[in-house]
Amino acid sequence: MRVGVIGTGYVGLVTATCLAEAGHHLTCVDNDPRKIQTLREGKIPIYEPGLEEMVARNVAAGRMRFSGSTAEAAAENEMLFIAVGTPGRDDGTADLSFIEAVSREIATNLPADGTRKIIVEKSTVPVSTGDRVKRSIQRGCRPGVQFEVVSNPEFLREGSAIHDFFRPDRIVVGVESEFAAAAMRRLYEPILEGRYFDPPGSRRPAWLVTDVASAELIKHASNSFLALKISYINSIAAICELTGGNIEHVAEGMGLDNRIGPQFLRAGLGYGGSCFPKDVAAFREIARAAGADFGILKEVMEVNAGQRKKFLRKIEEALWVVKGKTVAVLGLAFKPHTDDIREAPALDILAWLDKQGAHIRAYDPAAQENVRKLFPGVAYCASPYQAAEQADALLVVTEWDEFRYLDLKRLRETMKHGIIIDGRNIFDPPAVTEAGFEYFSMGRPPVRPAGMEQSSGSSVS
Ligand code: UGA
Repeated sequence: MRVGVIGTGYVGLVTATCLAEAGHHLTCVDNDPRKIQTLREGKIPIYEPGLEEMVARNVAAGRMRFSGSTAEAAAENEMLFIAVGTPGRDDGTADLSFIEAVSREIATNLPADGTRKIIVEKSTVPVSTGDRVKRSIQRGCRPGVQFEVVSNPEFLREGSAIHDFFRPDRIVVGVESEFAAAAMRRLYEPILEGRYFDPPGSRRPAWLVTDVASAELIKHASNSFLALKISYINSIAAICELTGGNIEHVAEGMGLDNRIGPQFLRAGLGYGGSCFPKDVAAFREIARAAGADFGILKEVMEVNAGQRKKFLRKIEEALWVVKGKTVAVLGLAFKPHTDDIREAPALDILAWLDKQGAHIRAYDPAAQENVRKLFPGVAYCASPYQAAEQADALLVVTEWDEFRYLDLKRLRETMKHGIIIDGRNIFDPPAVTEAGFEYFSMGRPPVRPAGMEQSSGSSVS
């Protein structure tokens, strides 16, 4: 099929590349000429494992090209994806001005040639945006133009977006007609066949066809539920700290129940990134605007913000005076396998350490350059060991795999004092104490090396 994707941000570029890989012909459009130039030069403006190679392969095969013209894409393609940004505003609501601008531009360029174009809303939007897009196009298009607006929410995770695209649990489309449902089915057929599962065909994603408003709601309801699961387990972690329980064991025991499942029960510094914080706030505002009080989501947000504060209190308890101390920070990205630092806990932690007057040494395999622009005073290091040199304490902020397998004895020898404060529970407590560390983690009792007195009255856990 001939498909245009408007917006070459994260969602647009991954979607376009994967659709090209599945055999379709893609035109990727962006109104930023520098971005188009960069992409034409074979460079990818985002960090996503496997994406650069896949773009190159599909460009070389003639299935993918880059353009600055929405007008051209609207005229030439049978299907148009809208994948532009919907940034959060201060009041929590989403700014839909990019969606409106693209809708208007599409409207004036749709041909009245008897073909029925499918306009797919891919950006995460409030319920009823599809209806707005439809009205906006109806107002701006010439007489005789035929089109339909479809909602097709994305469920891609940064860092594993390509895997998620080809092996999804489900594909959701919100449509108004059989015609649109059939067109979307044709588009996703290679994926629905289960061709990309191992072995091919061993699994097939669920295919859900619904109305546009329900599809829009599925996206927000799913993200908010996952955020709720994280805040729920973090609340249980707080109870563990007060009662002597171990959150890792509690989460494992809960996750073994098929009705609950083990995913998204990792306690720690809470969620960040460009999706959950924005989407939870937006969904709450959508509910409020519709006359419903979604109080649970307020709690979800408060618990999440509280996790960062809790971590700072642990640093204070462990170090006592933070001013003048050398603190090593491992992990800056909001999660592993990405260079994305939007709403990353590391930003709040660095700002606080800086305010306290700590000397900060940091290491992240992918996000260092992004953070350097915001915190130029931090010493950025080439490895975790270099970051740990002469440090009074080491903080684990993002759970990159390479941190799990650090040589703890070597780490201890590098540091001035043996203190680890782990915001992601990546270490096994006996292994760290064995290497000579005092170890503070989330939702587990603090542990100390043999022979080191447990200070009476310490409230750290
Ligand atoms: C999330 C959803 O998982 C995707 O399905 C969705 O498409 C995407 O948002 C979006 O709306 O575009 P993403 O933000 O890339 O994807 O990252 P996740 O892997 O879901 O992690 C989100 C945050 O939750 C991270 O900060 C992570 O550290 C945190 N998290 C995750 C936990 O604290 N505990 C967990 O058990 C799981």
